[in-house]
Amino acid sequence: MSTGNESRGAPSNDEVICRAGPSLALIKYWGKEVKGDNLPATPSLAVTLGGVYTETHATAVPGVPASAEIRDVMSVDGIVQDPARYAMFFDTLRHTLGIAPRFRASSVNSFPTSAGLASSSSGFAALAGACARAAGCEPSAMDLSAIARAGSASAARSVYGGFVLLPAGARRARQLCGPEHWPDLRIVVAVTHRSAKPVPSRRAMEETRASSPYYFSWIKESAELLPEALRALEAKDLELLGETARRSYSLMHGAILGAQPPLLYWLPATVAVIHACASMRAAGIGAWETIDAGPQVKILCLLKDVEAVVARVGSLGGGIQTLVCYPGPGLQYGPAPQ
Ligand code: DP6
Repeated sequence: MSTGNESRGAPSNDEVICRAGPSLALIKYWGKEVKGDNLPATPSLAVTLGGVYTETHATAVPGVPASAEIRDVMSVDGIVQDPARYAMFFDTLRHTLGIAPRFRASSVNSFPTSAGLASSSSGFAALAGACARAAGCEPSAMDLSAIARAGSASAARSVYGGFVLLPAGARRARQLCGPEHWPDLRIVVAVTHRSAKPVPSRRAMEETRASSPYYFSWIKESAELLPEALRALEAKDLELLGETARRSYSLMHGAILGAQPPLLYWLPATVAVIHACASMRAAGIGAWETIDAGPQVKILCLLKDVEAVVARVGSLGGGIQTLVCYPGPGLQYGPAPQ
């Protein structure tokens, strides 16, 4: 697995490095208010993960008028990205900060990219932080959140550490509490498959909106789940939070399965981990799973149960790997400590 530090060398003087953790939604965002916009149709409540991150290096190309034919260039894990995917992000960045430069940026992830581990959340958050600072700006976290949202709505959350809310229809997320609120919460990521997912979440959520008969029930139920999840978070009631998170992902995947054509992100190993969580709970080990747009399973548990959860998932075989994460920080600047 990449550490995010290899073959980077020393940063040049005007290069800025920014890191962000992926935003793991407990109450999921799935669907946009309007196609093409990144205004979420559902509220989402997430924890920013520590222990995994995207690291982005950016430089500003100064003095370029906005009309110039010089393009922003972005690469992820060494692969140059389609400029169209980044155009709205860079235009929003320039517009919000009132600046003209183009940017050269590259990111590496310390975890599998585009595989349902929320790499676009950490990716666009780190990109926002790195580019803003490379252009000599120090925007507020609120502005960075709005800029990151132009890349991916979930990225609006990754700007902040700890526990973060992105209300339905909101242009920016806000932090509810820092990672210190729940220091013994752990998230065991069960990596069941390392390749990129077959259908990107953006396309899948649009197909769900356009064709799933369950889409509007999903939107309605999501809004109703949020108050319960907020109560559970405040009380650090893992059982209530875990059950609410399970309901959220189950409803989301139900709506996705109802799309035309139906889409199933789960693999046999995904289902095996779901059943393993149920049997752990039956045996008194607090382990509640959640699943995003991919085959990986993220298991909420407490520090005291981590060893048992990792051992149980490991016993399933099939090459499932585990990463242990925790409530992490917001944007951090400079290279990762060795
Ligand atoms: C299942 O934020 O990647 O991870 O806004 O279209 O870029 P876009 O989508 P994205 O979707 C994330 C979906 C999710 C749930 C979540 O993170 O809330």
